[in-house]
Amino acid sequence: MQITLSAIKADIGGYVGHSSSHPDVLSKAEQGMAQAKQEGLLIDYHVTRCGDDLQLIMTHQHGEDSNQIHKLGWDVFISCAEVAKKLKLHGAGQDLLADAFAGNVRGMGPGVAEMQFEEREAETIIIFMADKTASGAWNLPLYKMFADPFNTIGLVIAANMHGGFSFEVHDVKESKKIVFHAPDEIYDMLVFIGAPGRYAVKAVYHRDSGEIAAVSSTQKLALIAGRYVGKDDPVCIVRSQGTFPAVGEILEPFASPNIVEGWMRGSHHGPLMPVAVNESNPSRFDGPPRVIAAGFQLAEGTLVGPRDMFDDLAFDNARKQANDIADVLRRLGPFEPHRLPLHEMEYTTLPQVMKKLEGRFENI
Ligand code: F6R
Ligand code: MG
Ligand code: MG
Repeated sequence: MQITLSAIKADIGGYVGHSSSHPDVLSKAEQGMAQAKQEGLLIDYHVTRCGDDLQLIMTHQHGEDSNQIHKLGWDVFISCAEVAKKLKLHGAGQDLLADAFAGNVRGMGPGVAEMQFEEREAETIIIFMADKTASGAWNLPLYKMFADPFNTIGLVIAANMHGGFSFEVHDVKESKKIVFHAPDEIYDMLVFIGAPGRYAVKAVYHRDSGEIAAVSSTQKLALIAGRYVGKDDPVCIVRSQGTFPAVGEILEPFASPNIVEGWMRGSHHGPLMPVAVNESNPSRFDGPPRVIAAGFQLAEGTLVGPRDMFDDLAFDNARKQANDIADVLRRLGPFEPHRLPLHEMEYTTLPQVMKKLEGRFENI
């Protein structure tokens, strides 16, 4: 049975500040999704949130980039933004950058990750959702899951994965893409995906079967809006078990927190802390950045779950390490490398300050 899994997300208002989501907004989204399921547009859905980002997880049979499904997401976000505006939540409707729906939510503000596949005998899915960071945040974990035998032992000892995986990498500034084959091209690939502010892993495919293994949302809101409007706060769907890495191999990269961009005012590096959904409330210096993981089994498109995958004391050390990294970085205050490098500050106050001081720079 061909199933499409769509995860569409938007920050349509924070409670309090940019730290979390209001329950009334979530229940409004729940209503909209329930109605779409009743009308037969969706097979199933799950509404959740990561920090201040509303997440609509949907299964259906309309394929990727479906006008109907994207319109549904957009309409639900609009109705939720109305609730947010009434409650005067912070930044109500901030990611709904266009005035009207233009047929597809891509490039309009909301983030989207979608994949279509033939549902397997047992279809295990993990959906990662992050707040206070950008889509390149998935580069390191996806590399570890699908190309690093020190993380995924299945690459070495499971015959059905030994052929490796292919990575579709997007240049988010130039809107170009390239496919790298692992393991033979990992050195070439790492030149690019090691720069996650510019190159983001969009999708991963099983090399032998060509089957989709993972897909992420990769848009840079700042580039869409031309000025800083918040971070992308990306999502990533990963298929697991069988010819794909095991659940534990998919979660393992998050046991040692990497450092990502997007903390405070989208202008700082910080550790990506894996947390349970109810702990995704970034409040210290508006962070540190969080990642949650919702696990599902699919049954004819029905979402059996979620299991809150980081709600596990085995990730306590990762959380402790993330807090320690946060302490070290915070000591730097406004200095790099806590603050982003200058070229990443283009969409913030930098141009204005530069303009004001233009006449005062003298030749040395
Ligand atoms: C939002 C974020 C926050 C805000 C900050 C200022 O994703 O990262 O750190 O940038 O709270 O927010 P505004 O400008 O909305 O007052
Ligand atoms: Mg926000
Ligand atoms: Mg957010």
